Amino acid sequence: TAASYCRNHGSGMKFVRLVLANAPKHIEHFSKFSPSPLSMKQFLDFGSTNACERTSFAFLRQELPVRLSNIMKEIGLLPGRLLATPSVQMVQSWYVQSLMEILEFLEKNAEDHAVLAEFVNVLVNIRNRHNDVVPTMAQGVIEYKEAFGQDPVTSQNIQYFLDRFYMSRISIRMLINQHSLVFDGAANPIHPNTIGSIDPCCDVVQVVRDAYESAKMLCEQYYLTSPSLDLKELNLKSRTQPIHLVYVPSHLYHMLFELFKNAMRATIENHKDSSDLPPIEVLVAIGGEDLSIKMSDKGGGVPFRKMENLFSYMYSTAPTPTVGQQDRAPLAGFGYGLPISRLYAQYFQGDLQLYSMEGHGTDAVIHLKALSTDSVERLPVYNKTAKRNYKVSQAADDWCVPSREPLDMAVYRLAK
Ligand SMILES: Nc1ncnc2c1ncn2[C@@H]1O[C@H](COP(=O)(O)OP(=O)(O)OP(=O)(O)O)[C@@H](O)[C@H]1O
Ligand SMILES: [Mg+2]
Repeated sequence: TAASYCRNHGSGMKFVRLVLANAPKHIEHFSKFSPSPLSMKQFLDFGSTNACERTSFAFLRQELPVRLSNIMKEIGLLPGRLLATPSVQMVQSWYVQSLMEILEFLEKNAEDHAVLAEFVNVLVNIRNRHNDVVPTMAQGVIEYKEAFGQDPVTSQNIQYFLDRFYMSRISIRMLINQHSLVFDGAANPIHPNTIGSIDPCCDVVQVVRDAYESAKMLCEQYYLTSPSLDLKELNLKSRTQPIHLVYVPSHLYHMLFELFKNAMRATIENHKDSSDLPPIEVLVAIGGEDLSIKMSDKGGGVPFRKMENLFSYMYSTAPTPTVGQQDRAPLAGFGYGLPISRLYAQYFQGDLQLYSMEGHGTDAVIHLKALSTDSVERLPVYNKTAKRNYKVSQAADDWCVPSREPLDMAVYRLAK
């Protein structure tokens, strides 16, 4: 096969060319299947006492190609000039290579321990290969923006695509992480109760504190000061019990860390007297259906007109960083903090919303499903509807556009 050819001959270029020749027919085949969303319960079952590595292996060698191929078809629908950027080409080649590596396992024997062990290695390799997909894609978008500017149709296309592409990526990494963590034979030394990356008893308030502390450290490096945290919890079911959730703590941490960074930056830049900063207020509440986390800052807010832009991949108020400039983690970077955090929230059927009052401050609310039975993966699927969404043309608005010049009423004055 192509991959073993590469290993034997050590010829990267030949491998790439060979693989590229075969890839389209595999992508075509696997993109005809819809991805199968897993519930939190299914994730836990894969990793509990009746965990079966062979079952997981058999599922993944089919499901990973399906998820990869579904999204690869959508990469192919991107505007040609974006697709042609070196960054997007690079990302595309990673996807092709990873797909082909997994396909090698289709003919292999699931009873063979060596095969199972090799599969874990290949998965870990794939995960590492794809580490920089987000900044690389972002670089592609920047290159495109600099060369061709932004028009509303392309911006909308890119927004639609990146939301789906990054969601697909989150889900693929989740599958890889679960399999490789559960079946590498070692228990997690720090969190012995976790199942892969899932904590069946995730202490939400603790994650809020952890995220606050990290953001605070970063904030103090930049501003030499930071707002304090005012944290409250409300457990409707039992007022004295701490709030627990079956969830992926790293996802929750990611969202909260991003929200804290934004809230801190806004608070400090909106208060010239850094000795008197208003605290960031966080309220965690759980009911029968939802677990919600509201973070309120008094950072001056955002004008209502701009709210939609905050979740856009084409927009950030922070200066644009370049890939490779990673000596210091930026407090504000690509402007991907909010859109990616919203994807993490939506991944298990939650959401992230922002309410802002200009002149005052911003409330950011994360809504999650309180019940693990409601937490099911939300996955993009490549179908006719998806395809149609890339063909949006700029239709005329069905609301009047106010003209720049005030209407000259004199024209209407009746002749005396
Ligand atoms: N709490 C807030 N108060 C005021 N403005 C905010 C707040 N949160 C976000 N914003 C505005 O929304 C923009 C987008 O936020 P987002 O977190 O997505 O990107 P960023 O902070 O610019 O970069 P990064 O990718 O590092 O997060 C910010 O640049 C900022 O202008
Ligand atoms: Mg941010």
